[in-house]
Amino acid sequence: MLLDGQGPLCAQVYRGLRNAIVQGDFAPGTRLPATRDVAVDLRISRSTVLLAYEQLVAEGYAVGRRGSGTYVADTPAQPALVRAVAPAADRTPRLSRLGAGLVGERRLPLESGYIGARRTHRWDFRYGMPSLAEFPLDAWHRSLGRTARRAAHRAYDYGSPQGSPALRAALATYLGQARGVRCSPDHIVIVSGSQQALDLTARVLLDRGDRVAVEEPGYEGARQAFRAVGARLVPAPVDAEGLDPATLPPARLAFVTPSHQYPLGGVLSWPRRSALLAWASRHQAWVVEDDYDGEYRFDGPPIPPLKALDSDARVLYVGTFSKVMFPSLRIGYLVCPPGLVDAFARMRLVADGGGPQLEQEALADFIARGTFARHVRRSRHRSGERRRMLVDALNEALGDRLVVSGANAGLHVAVWLPGVPAREAVPIARRASAAGIGIYPIAPYYLIPPRHEGFILGYGALPVAEIRTGVKRLAGVFAGSA
Ligand SMILES: Cc1ncc(COP(=O)(O)O)c(C=O)c1O
Repeated sequence: MLLDGQGPLCAQVYRGLRNAIVQGDFAPGTRLPATRDVAVDLRISRSTVLLAYEQLVAEGYAVGRRGSGTYVADTPAQPALVRAVAPAADRTPRLSRLGAGLVGERRLPLESGYIGARRTHRWDFRYGMPSLAEFPLDAWHRSLGRTARRAAHRAYDYGSPQGSPALRAALATYLGQARGVRCSPDHIVIVSGSQQALDLTARVLLDRGDRVAVEEPGYEGARQAFRAVGARLVPAPVDAEGLDPATLPPARLAFVTPSHQYPLGGVLSWPRRSALLAWASRHQAWVVEDDYDGEYRFDGPPIPPLKALDSDARVLYVGTFSKVMFPSLRIGYLVCPPGLVDAFARMRLVADGGGPQLEQEALADFIARGTFARHVRRSRHRSGERRRMLVDALNEALGDRLVVSGANAGLHVAVWLPGVPAREAVPIARRASAAGIGIYPIAPYYLIPPRHEGFILGYGALPVAEIRTGVKRLAGVFAGSA
């Protein structure tokens, strides 16, 4: 048997044998060569061959007879129906326009997962990551264990597509107390991370060609979700107070990050909040409020979320546990205007049939016991220390060369290099990378490229001491760039 050299060895052995059976080289009922012999012939391990044989048996091409070997099935698959299998690389799949547009899309990097193949830096000012090392794993394990132990058999049935009632009840209490969002558990839809909330929103509320106002610069995850349904994105420039509703054209929906504009960090001011709600009422438009890191607010008086001021039921409030617990949990939530709940719950059914229930129940336990609120308090305190350290170190080492913005909330700041043209950003980031420092240019967050360059510096996961050293080294890189 010849191997085609494509992909894993066991897949090659499987394909070689399957093609031989389909083409009639092995007649029905004949015994396939002993796995030991195949392994010796091909100079590969016997366990690899066994895996290939198991696959043939599982698919009905062969049957195993205890103690006597593996035989070609009496009625093997018909050659006319199943042609010899080419290795996947030889086939060019025909995709939808959306699917084809996604292949190789640089703005959706597959290695952007934090365990991905991307290069790791000793001082990685990567945006958005909470400190996993400080997450109370033991308490989380106890919630998982308790939940799993007390789960009756019916807990293993399909759950509500709207999400676990226990989690929705715990969230309604938490959101009322911590964020001033008063809502009934019936108006909450649990989602698989806030990204799913955006995907469902696009599918439930938008048609091809609808205009969607997005902050400029802004969040690519939202843009991708709206683009996927053929919406037309209208960039709405932001300043230190967020986007300006006075300049917003009519649109079907506006996507905003009012507590901490992503990525520049401005906080949407009171007057602009009420102007945005008035704009939504005037145009019968929806406002998607992404409160992705609302738990991390350090300075200034708290401003209630738009949802807390939403007397006309135009706001969809989106939150996530990615920044305050850990991103692989993939649990977020959407507080819907009451009239939208049914459509969102059913769209969730269409999307993936609803989320895993046990983790949701464990999270409900974690919140109801107060562990979550304690963890939020601690994280906010530690992130505040990191933020102070970063801003002080930047001012000390580079104060005359850069301007810091968006430092009163969240897990990142934006830094601007006045007078440095945007084209310098990538070379600077490369030099920083060679010195072991990860910094990330701001240009990819813009639909229309900015004139001056800036960087996003995340500090959520870096130990305080490392922040100071990292900034010192960064100053060396900038000095070399003068
Ligand atoms: C603006 C914004 N919203 C939401 C999220 C979180 O997304 P998810 O809940 O899907 O992990 C992020 C994460 O980076 C973000 O930057």
